[in-house]
Amino acid sequence: MSDELRIKLKETTDFLKAKGIENPEVGVILGSGLNDYADRIEDPLVIPYNDIPNMQAGKLPDHRGQLIYGEISGKKVILLAGRFHYYENGDMQKTAYPARVLAYLGVKRFIITNAAGCINENFGVGDLMLISDHINYSGANPLIGDNLEELGPRIPDMTYTYNRELREALKKRAHEEGIELREGVYMMFSGPTFETPAEIIFARTVGADAAGMSTVPEAIIANHAEREIIGISCLSNMAAGVLDQPLSGQEVNEAAMLVKDTFKKVVDMAIEI
Ligand code: HPA
Repeated sequence: MSDELRIKLKETTDFLKAKGIENPEVGVILGSGLNDYADRIEDPLVIPYNDIPNMQAGKLPDHRGQLIYGEISGKKVILLAGRFHYYENGDMQKTAYPARVLAYLGVKRFIITNAAGCINENFGVGDLMLISDHINYSGANPLIGDNLEELGPRIPDMTYTYNRELREALKKRAHEEGIELREGVYMMFSGPTFETPAEIIFARTVGADAAGMSTVPEAIIANHAEREIIGISCLSNMAAGVLDQPLSGQEVNEAAMLVKDTFKKVVDMAIEI
């Protein structure tokens, strides 16, 4: 398996290098409803996932399925507009593959974003939450299987997954711009169902502030390779049962649209700091 993965990664990254992607510094993974950040790069190199060897495009309508490369604030940045979710076919390897590609290309900083349900009742819809830590409740882990020793250890430490100094710097920068960032624990559920109210009570009890269906696989891969990680959740709805009303995907996208400008500023800052 490890040889197979290594061959695939080499094939993918050779293709991207041949397209002109050289020494990217920052990788940004864009969550549901947040793909418009992809328009941030002037004069970008846009490569549809479907053209990239071994990259699987997800099927969600609001995910573009494009890798976008260019410069932001003088840094070479790869944006992944659209991700493949674990719930799309239950394959953690496929879900985490784009993050592996970023790591293999040498990306130093991962900015991983998502839309998430808000569990913490002191936070609200439209808030942006820096992820301080996560709970992997998906029941799976992308590092299960042979380990690629050249990328990281067999049993990686996860104590400092979401870089504390960068979080502090980002909160400070955002505050100076009048943006108050929340901070909390993200809990990954497999989906594709939203959680039940009882599951959200459980999540709150074990220390979660937000619930979602992504981010954890990519963070595990980036942490394995000892890269810097900034996680940003757009709190798009109160989690199930917090309010006495059903949840919808539409609500998630509407909230993401609402915070679009703030989100753009915060991701810009996360690239710059
Ligand atoms: N739960 C899980 N994932 C989500 C939610 C939620 O409430 N909102 C957006 N993504």
